[in-house]
Amino acid sequence: MTWADEIERRVRGEHVRDAPLAPRTSIRVGGPADLLVRPADPDALAELLRAVRELALPLHVLGGGANTLVADAGVRGVVLRLPPGLGPEEARGETLVLGAGQPTSRLWVRAHALGLVGMEFVAGIPGTLGGAVAMNAGTRIGEMKDVVRRVELATAEGAGFVDASALGFAYRTCRLPPGAVVTRVEFALCRGDVRASERAMQDDRARRRRTQPLDRPTFGSTFRNPPGDFAGRLIEAVGLKGHRIGGAAWSDVHANFVVNLGGATARDVLGLVDLARSRVKERFGIALETEVRLLGAFPAEDVQGP
Ligand code: EPU
Repeated sequence: MTWADEIERRVRGEHVRDAPLAPRTSIRVGGPADLLVRPADPDALAELLRAVRELALPLHVLGGGANTLVADAGVRGVVLRLPPGLGPEEARGETLVLGAGQPTSRLWVRAHALGLVGMEFVAGIPGTLGGAVAMNAGTRIGEMKDVVRRVELATAEGAGFVDASALGFAYRTCRLPPGAVVTRVEFALCRGDVRASERAMQDDRARRRRTQPLDRPTFGSTFRNPPGDFAGRLIEAVGLKGHRIGGAAWSDVHANFVVNLGGATARDVLGLVDLARSRVKERFGIALETEVRLLGAFPAEDVQGP
């Protein structure tokens, strides 16, 4: 029996071998996962976490696939994708508990239905709530750490809520304990003017439609903004706006967006990232850092240090 047979036997849920991951990411690049698993319920997830530990398998968690670059050679081991409703949703007062596998839109849909506001920035964030927590996703009007009070984490030992203050939230990062999977998120919102909240979200969407290539496969922003400056401004200033490598290019709409023009490889994308990083370093002395998570088996020469 192979390890994949054993996982399939032990873990109730959906299993796909050699699962193409490119269609499950927003940039639509990269090879397949050895095994993609969607556990049926919290017990099946706990069993999966125990099984990967016993079998010493690599486990990777895929959220909605935004901000994720999958290697051309794919991903060895198990890729976990949570179902939207793992564990119950709860609503009491100004508190909302939602599944980490839910799309980010679930937050404002539920919040507005209950007369709650304060999460308007989420209009600009693709992917899942769990992925948004893991990266402390945000825009200029807010970030996850402003609205997350507690996070439910599952490990091979069991599941429980952890206070947001223990998770080291900072600009586009969060320190989750190794091997822990975000399963539910508790939000602290407030009662307010739902109409005004909807208007703020519409304005934000309209602004992004004007300034970002939303009709193309992208990561969203590629680099974090360096303190006091903007990655888009810097990449444009070094002449790379619109620059193409293979099937990928720095967008001519917004220079901090890599667009997949069709058939882009991870190698093309990393070529653009490295070129921008080295030109900006050379010209401005600024070390750009990506906000993109690399997933899978990258040849060492394709990946520069942070
Ligand atoms: N700029 C240029 N050239 C460009 C693009 C931008 O000079 O090609 C300049 C703009 O003129 C502006 C500045 O750079 O002065 C900032 O640009 P923008 O207003 O588009 O915002 P951003 O800092 O690039 C951030 C978030 C986005 C979020 C927008 C709107 C980061 C890294 N990015 O972009 O988040 O949607 O604000 O709130 O913080 C994401 O993180 O994936 C993302 C899309």
